[in-house]
Amino acid sequence: MMSLRFFLLLLFQLSVSGILAINNEDPTDKTMEDFSGYPIHAPIDYSFAAPNTLLSFLSVDSTALENQIDELSTFSDTPAPSVTRILYTEKDVLARRYIKNLMGLSGLSVREDAVGNIFGRWDGYEPDLAPVATGSHIDAIPYSGKYDGVVGVLGAIEAINVLKRSGFKPKRSLEVVLFTSEEPTRFGISCLGSRLLAGSKALAEALKTTVDAQNISFLEAARSAGYAKEQDDISRVFLKEGSYSAFLELHIEQGPILEAEGVSIGIVTAIAAPASLKVDFEGNGGHAGAVLMPNRNDAGLAAAELALDVEKHVLGSGSIDTVGTVGILELHPGAINSIPSKSHVEIDTRDIDEKRRNDVIEKIHQSATTIASKRGVRLSEFKIVNQDPPALSDKSVIEAMEATLKELNLTHKLMISRAYHDSLFMARVSPMGMLFIPCYKGYSHKPEEYASSHNIGNGVKVLALTLAKLSLNQ
Ligand code: GLV
Ligand code: MN
Ligand code: MN
Repeated sequence: MMSLRFFLLLLFQLSVSGILAINNEDPTDKTMEDFSGYPIHAPIDYSFAAPNTLLSFLSVDSTALENQIDELSTFSDTPAPSVTRILYTEKDVLARRYIKNLMGLSGLSVREDAVGNIFGRWDGYEPDLAPVATGSHIDAIPYSGKYDGVVGVLGAIEAINVLKRSGFKPKRSLEVVLFTSEEPTRFGISCLGSRLLAGSKALAEALKTTVDAQNISFLEAARSAGYAKEQDDISRVFLKEGSYSAFLELHIEQGPILEAEGVSIGIVTAIAAPASLKVDFEGNGGHAGAVLMPNRNDAGLAAAELALDVEKHVLGSGSIDTVGTVGILELHPGAINSIPSKSHVEIDTRDIDEKRRNDVIEKIHQSATTIASKRGVRLSEFKIVNQDPPALSDKSVIEAMEATLKELNLTHKLMISRAYHDSLFMARVSPMGMLFIPCYKGYSHKPEEYASSHNIGNGVKVLALTLAKLSLNQ
């Protein structure tokens, strides 16, 4: 009888593969649509009728995975069903320990870098070749759900288990990565771990002086969690060129398309360009009863007016793809009977077209200046925290996923990720691909976030088989 391993190998060899060179063009010159090569708005659906032979070989332990997702969600600073897990807090450290333990149980060799990116490696039979990596994050913004990021970490460990159970032996090593702080919650920096892995010198430098809202420094917080030891040099986190032959991330869609269209899997062709801004206004403040309206310079009203201008500029871009959010607006001193003397606004804006997003940032800056002078307040800070270009998935990884989906007889569609992910940065150092599974009504970043065990199981199968294919590549 044909051995399972041989059977899998045969299927992989029949499948399309071949790593293509990473595109070296300047991504800032093109729109997302130009460089992804796929239309963004036209839905492309594929259904494959081929017999579903591999499903019986790839068995996902959905019950165990569901239990792990539930257990991980208990490491939270807010009550269920919400999840709040902030970088380097006690709950984050416990959750990390839980993941490292699972990695160990799966026979992975575990190591961590100076900022707490965690790597679990399954050695291939040609361990000198660059490994194939997969992973995501487990930090959770305040009052969010239990699937964002988590599916791509626990699902990756389960994908390794699936392959091990099937008898598969990887040629290139397979590595599961837990990225530190994909969410910007604590230090205002998104994709902190993957940004560093991708070699951001600016971030390595900035982290020496970065503090959180409680004035706790990044280094102190990292040390309290067992990272960034005295002798550690943060730039040692940077990955060397060619560290990975491919990177693939499994994630919930965080949008409604797959569920609404009844499609099993989304293959991400490109990730939209995110940016975030911090703005501070300062006025004189004063007594809410005693200072008459003509004599005020209200920093709170300046912030409110700027928030409305953000919406105006975003809507004025002429494209539904431009989005902007004022997610943080703080007033000082924060008393009902005191005119705000300081205000702090944080703005998130994104677009699939980088230039159009940059134009919006410029208009927001003009508004902040105009509002300050009109209202007699001081614009004490206008800081662009990050202004990232979009990222493009690699053709070779897309093709490996497409071949897998055909073998598994699962429907899929090519799509843009409007949310950002660690893959945005991994694309700078490795051919990158992402795969989405449907989530309930597209809900995310709120407690109602939900993905069914069936859909998670599909995602894990696709991940497992695609990792296996990529691991066998030359
Ligand atoms: C990721 O969490 C994002 O905000 O897109
Ligand atoms: Mn998120
Ligand atoms: Mn995420």
